[in-house]
Amino acid sequence: MKNILITGGAGFIGSHVVRLMVNKYPDYKIVNLDLLTYAGNLENLKDIEKKSNYVFEKGDICDADFVLSVFEKHQIDGVIHLAAESHVDRSISNPMSFIQTNIVGTVVLLNAARKYWGENMTGKRFYHISTDEVYGSLGEEGFFTETTSYDPRSPYSASKASSDHLVRAYNHTFHMPVVISNCSNNYGPNQFPEKLLPLAINNIKNMKPVPVYGKGENIRDWLYVVDHAKAIDLIFHKGIDGETYNIGGRNEWKNIDLIMLLCKIMDEKLGRTPGESASLITYVKDRAGHDLRYAIDATKLQDNLGWKHDVMFAEGLEKTVTWYLENSEWLANVLSGDYAKYYEQQYIQR
Ligand code: NAD
Ligand code: DAU
Repeated sequence: MKNILITGGAGFIGSHVVRLMVNKYPDYKIVNLDLLTYAGNLENLKDIEKKSNYVFEKGDICDADFVLSVFEKHQIDGVIHLAAESHVDRSISNPMSFIQTNIVGTVVLLNAARKYWGENMTGKRFYHISTDEVYGSLGEEGFFTETTSYDPRSPYSASKASSDHLVRAYNHTFHMPVVISNCSNNYGPNQFPEKLLPLAINNIKNMKPVPVYGKGENIRDWLYVVDHAKAIDLIFHKGIDGETYNIGGRNEWKNIDLIMLLCKIMDEKLGRTPGESASLITYVKDRAGHDLRYAIDATKLQDNLGWKHDVMFAEGLEKTVTWYLENSEWLANVLSGDYAKYYEQQYIQR
């Protein structure tokens, strides 16, 4: 496969996937299709944007004519689909945009792939990136495996579950070669500061309250974003058609313990007296329908495709904090909305 369409490549995970693919596969053409919503930021890709095997196409995955035209223009052989509305809290306040992008947008992409690839889809691949949240919430014991029943409980996870079902339906009904992966919480550079870790880092830095939902007892399984990108590369190239792979860090943290650890690191990095950052912790109203615990069993990916994560959590968290502290301009641009001007400067005014 030579011409790969990556949707949502200007977002958090997508930008790490685009960078990895552009640098690792100079013979591939990597086409990044992104609408540049509030979460899409081309500054994330400054280091690779001039490479000859990289192309950016601005547009909406829900726009069927546009999506088909991108398949035709770039003769797309494979799709890695990450574009989505991704923040659970936003799905609670505005579910419709999640239905539109995550469900309708995925079907528009599937239809374009089917139309462009025709009956014989040998050698083609549609890779759908999904989340562990489709499996619902765990109690204190157990892990999500690929055969865990779906039980989505937020508008976000229900929209992702729906798109997973549709991708499988296109595999079953139309024999489209698909793979799906469901990953746990990612952390690392370039994450929009509405998600827990970048929000907390930014607030601690600025001596602002750090909001902890409920009692802080919810548990998430954290994976460094570059390890997710490497898993995506592996599954895209080596995964078996029709299969699903779970990706996770075997790295569970109660929110409050994670925030306490973060505060300790920030005290050290900012030369504060121990406990100064932790004094910012503020318990706030819980998220509606807040899932208690996610934990992934990634044995299938490890045993069948030989994946393992490279970055240990202590190292990854330290790198992440350092990145946000050293990239205050990125953070300021995101918070002010100025990052949107970057697209105009780079792609319109030139
Ligand atoms: P993100 O919100 O940072 O990025 C989403 C990207 O999609 C943005 O660049 C945005 O501009 C683009 N986009 C949104 N709507 C679009 C549309 N209609 N047309 C074209 N582009 C559009 O998200 P993320 O955290 O990088 O997540 C990427 C994918 O990975 C999502 O599918 C998400 O469900 C999944 N996922 C995320 C995590 C996580 O921890 N962040 C974990 C598992 C799975
Ligand atoms: O599990 C994978 C999912 O992880 C992805 O599919 C989602 O796209 C991604 O956003 C993430 O969802 P979460 O809801 O787990 O991530 P978030 O960073 O929003 O919250 C992490 C935990 O921290 C969760 O239990 C809610 C809590 N929280 C979050 C915020 C933003 C707080 O206590 N305070 C906060 O301010």
